[in-house]
Amino acid sequence: MGRAWKGFLKSGIILLFLSPFVYIFYHIDFLEFQKTPTPPFTNISVSSDPGSNQNSCAFRWLSPKEIHEENILLDSIAWPNTPSVPAPVSLEGTSNAARSKCVILPRPGGGSWLVGDQLEVMIKMFDFKGHPKNHGGDFFLTRLHNQALQAGVAGQVVDHLNGTYSAVFFLPWEGKSEVEVTLVHPSEAIPFLQSFSGERPNGVDYYSTFQSGSLTDTTLCNVCLPSTQQPQCNYTDLNTGELWFCYKPQNLSCDTRIKHFHKIRKPIKAEEDILFKTGVTMNVRIPSSGPAHVTVFPKKKGQLAARSNKDIPGPAGYYYKGLWSSLSGTTVQRFSNASAISQCLKNKVVLMYGDSTVRQWLEFLSEELTDLQVYNLHTTSRFGPFVALDHVNNIYVTFRSHGLPIRIGISPVTELHYVANELNGIAGGKNTIVVIGVWAHLTSFPIKVYIRRIMSIRKAVVRLLARAPDTRIIIRTANLKHSPTPILAQLSGDWPSLQRDKILRTMFKGMNVYFVDAWEMTLAHYLQHDLHPQRPIIKNMIDVVLSYICPSK
Ligand SMILES: *[C@@H]1O[C@H](CO)[C@@H](O)[C@H](O)[C@H]1NC(C)=O
Ligand SMILES: *[C@@H]1O[C@H](CO)[C@@H](O)[C@H](O)[C@H]1NC(C)=O
Ligand SMILES: *[C@@H]1O[C@H](CO)[C@@H](O)[C@H](O)[C@H]1NC(C)=O
Ligand SMILES: *[C@@H]1O[C@H](CO)[C@@H](O)[C@H](O)[C@H]1NC(C)=O
Ligand SMILES: *[C@@H]1O[C@H](CO)[C@@H](O)[C@H](O)[C@H]1NC(C)=O
Repeated sequence: MGRAWKGFLKSGIILLFLSPFVYIFYHIDFLEFQKTPTPPFTNISVSSDPGSNQNSCAFRWLSPKEIHEENILLDSIAWPNTPSVPAPVSLEGTSNAARSKCVILPRPGGGSWLVGDQLEVMIKMFDFKGHPKNHGGDFFLTRLHNQALQAGVAGQVVDHLNGTYSAVFFLPWEGKSEVEVTLVHPSEAIPFLQSFSGERPNGVDYYSTFQSGSLTDTTLCNVCLPSTQQPQCNYTDLNTGELWFCYKPQNLSCDTRIKHFHKIRKPIKAEEDILFKTGVTMNVRIPSSGPAHVTVFPKKKGQLAARSNKDIPGPAGYYYKGLWSSLSGTTVQRFSNASAISQCLKNKVVLMYGDSTVRQWLEFLSEELTDLQVYNLHTTSRFGPFVALDHVNNIYVTFRSHGLPIRIGISPVTELHYVANELNGIAGGKNTIVVIGVWAHLTSFPIKVYIRRIMSIRKAVVRLLARAPDTRIIIRTANLKHSPTPILAQLSGDWPSLQRDKILRTMFKGMNVYFVDAWEMTLAHYLQHDLHPQRPIIKNMIDVVLSYICPSK
């Protein structure tokens, strides 16, 4: 393929004309978050209003040891100052980013800022009445960047619980570094986010279509359903114990279920909207009092780095000239052309499981490698599964969606496979790479559902590594996304993602698995956040993945 041609291919607009399939493949999951699709059905038999009067959900059974772990995990994500019942909506005492300020603190020990130093920014919050805040709990995203150098690094925020916060940055490059502090949510909005899917799934209705002969019916499904007069079909997975139920169609049996789909609801009360208003309460930059940038000089021999907060973990990596470098021990190599990529993947089997953010990696590889052909398996467009094969180099890549609950179009129930069950069917070995990315579709479920899901996946990973310790297991973390509306922020925003992401990292910590830190890779990058990160970010992620598969000698 010519260079110009490849350039064209990178543009979604040209793709639209070239192949509607590829375009849809890439973009529609996101569109589905923005507007409620009209499902291809007219009559649904539901005996109660979805979601109403539903008491808390029963979750899958856990052993005492697992309950202990769950309690530790829940403690680890506890958010400061969040009452169990949200306060009435009022802006008065709410954190107001526009009236708050941040200031770069002087370098400890004085002198010029040096590469390798830690820079601290003090954030002081005020409310809409102009009064200083005296409690913590605001949710920030912070980064340090230099647009001209295409450089960026994520900052860590420390909550002092008294209305002030520290944002701590590592200074990885020489030259100008600009501080950016964004209030994503005021602390007052967090109880609403917590209660949104705290006890039971919220915001999305799942349905199944049943069919036998000329009879069809559609009923409501979920991990738990309110008990009504209508009997329920129990689709609990016998191996993982993952729960799933549908109301039984009146005149059809439970085994006539053929399709799964979803519909997004607007479940929040309108008066809450003011707490989730972009540019007012949500996603607002904190102005800097004084300069918002520093100039960083190279470190001379023998000079010590200035550090104010020694306990704060450093960032996972940073961008410089658009390229991601890791700070956690792995040298990220550049696989800058097709032959470098296929050389690394030669004789490899790459098995990807998860949501569409993992599927993007298969799409990227198949676009980069002309010899890697995606087979048409006549599956539903975006749901997959997908298989790509490079016959010459003996490269086999697959993607399979992670199973219920999932919001990718209409899917045949036969293709809803839990990741843990798939992993149990893999022999593994030194030529096998397993990629797992499960987060985006679980944000509207109670955190306990996510913990159970990752527990069952982790058990399968432990078994796989026991039978084939050379298997490379790569975990893709959650990424930031653009959630400009109240419903998107509550359903699938960065705060619910962060909570699940912390759980994911903690649960796989210390295991023989490799992380791709999609969170920091999207936070540090200059491109707008997107559920499906844009191509320059995917390219860097693939460099990280390939560096794990083919480490430099
Ligand atoms: C839906 O129900 C209405 C009335 O109950 C009926 O007239 C209509 O034919 C049904 N549509 C389908 C597609 O079953
Ligand atoms: C808040 O706590 C931090 C850390 O303990 C302290 O440095 C700061 O002075 C406190 N600020 C106020 C306004 O109390
Ligand atoms: C659903 O089926 C599972 C597995 O057979 C069983 O353990 C569980 O008790 C059933 N749940 C309900 C509510 O019937
Ligand atoms: C089920 O069958 C009965 C008897 O034929 C009929 O009255 C009823 O309307 C049917 N229900 C549905 C949902 O199709
Ligand atoms: C591809 O990239 C590798 C590694 O960067 C380089 O050694 C090689 O010369 C490149 N090949 C082509 C055809 O550009």
